[in-house]
Amino acid sequence: MTSQPLANLRILLGVSGGIAAYKAAELTRRLRDAGADVQVVLTANATRFVGPLTFQALSGHPVRAGLWDEAAEAAMGHIELARWAQRILIAPASADVIARLAHGIADDLLTTLCLASAAPLAVAPAMNLRMWAHAATQANVAMLRSRDVAVLGPAGGPMAEPESGPGRLLEPHQIVAGLAALHGPKPLTGLRVLVSAGPTCEDIDPVRFIGNRSSGRMGFAIARAAAEQGAAVHLVAGPVHLPTPAGVVREDVRNARQMRDAVMQQIPQCDIFVAAAAVGDYRPAEVAAHKLKKTGKALVLELTENPDIVAEVAARKKKPFVAGFAAETERVEARARSKLERKGLDLIAANRVGNGTGFDAEDNELTLLWSGGKEQLQRADKLALAHRLLERIAALRAKPAKAHRQ
Ligand code: C5P
Repeated sequence: MTSQPLANLRILLGVSGGIAAYKAAELTRRLRDAGADVQVVLTANATRFVGPLTFQALSGHPVRAGLWDEAAEAAMGHIELARWAQRILIAPASADVIARLAHGIADDLLTTLCLASAAPLAVAPAMNLRMWAHAATQANVAMLRSRDVAVLGPAGGPMAEPESGPGRLLEPHQIVAGLAALHGPKPLTGLRVLVSAGPTCEDIDPVRFIGNRSSGRMGFAIARAAAEQGAAVHLVAGPVHLPTPAGVVREDVRNARQMRDAVMQQIPQCDIFVAAAAVGDYRPAEVAAHKLKKTGKALVLELTENPDIVAEVAARKKKPFVAGFAAETERVEARARSKLERKGLDLIAANRVGNGTGFDAEDNELTLLWSGGKEQLQRADKLALAHRLLERIAALRAKPAKAHRQ
């Protein structure tokens, strides 16, 4: 990525109320460092947390804080400002602003500008975690997404209140990276990417199953990043509670055999397959028709091996670029490299799991390995890692010596 990924982009930064408003000052500076020209609009609530002068100094432009500011209107009318903007970013976006945007309400300067401008909109939500989780907010966010509004975050983790969970504003550098991804080159345009994600559940009886701790977040981040980079993306997901990334076709499955069938159906039409699912290696030899009862004795379950989906794809004559994951608890790199060779993959992303890293975490750390090469990706959020992984895949595919379907 260039050092100025937002060079010459005219960004209207809307700041709404909330304790996270102070972070918008740092964000303004970072947007300018990234090359953007930034004009700031504060909502009435935002002015209770931060002052216009801070933003004026940081943006180098007068700051607007209301529709009825005659001097500001005389300098640049709000319709002119709406036309000036090539991108509108609202950070932090409160639950209230999100609700007003979703319903097309224009009762202050910021929401009026959003309706009056043709510029694409991105919002970085920040609110109390219960407000974020509320069905009303989730429905409003889904409505915005369906209109191609980019939703950056929120992050999980500690908040101003003594609670923890999603709702926190992304860090300014993450918001800039998110915007850069929206504006950046789209190296996967015209390509079809297939991603498997999440765990599989192998039923024992009608109420019990063998599963694993995969959250699906890494695979969903890859699907989202691939769509952001211009690919047509098909996501085969095991049972997870995650929203479908914008522009991605999602197919839900439960067990390894269903996942195999769904993947195999897509393989002839795909250019890149990223197997991020944590597929159960074994399943019960038989699924009991009724709930198993206690017998007072030990229970022995017979397990049968599941198909190895990624190995089956990699063994095909006509195959896409095949990338797999290796989640290991020890000797990570050595194990991953032998898996790369044994399964015949083009690339493997190795990570250490256990003790709170990998599966359930927001962040991850990956080592990418391929025949004769290696790249260490430093700890970062999963979306940022997904972009780096796809950039590496695009670079490896571009190598002329490779015999992949082009
Ligand atoms: O052998 P292991 O399960 O560690 O390999 C992990 C890689 O293989 C992942 O990319 C995973 O999606 C894939 N895999 C698969 N089918 C299986 C087991 C693993 O596609 N049955």
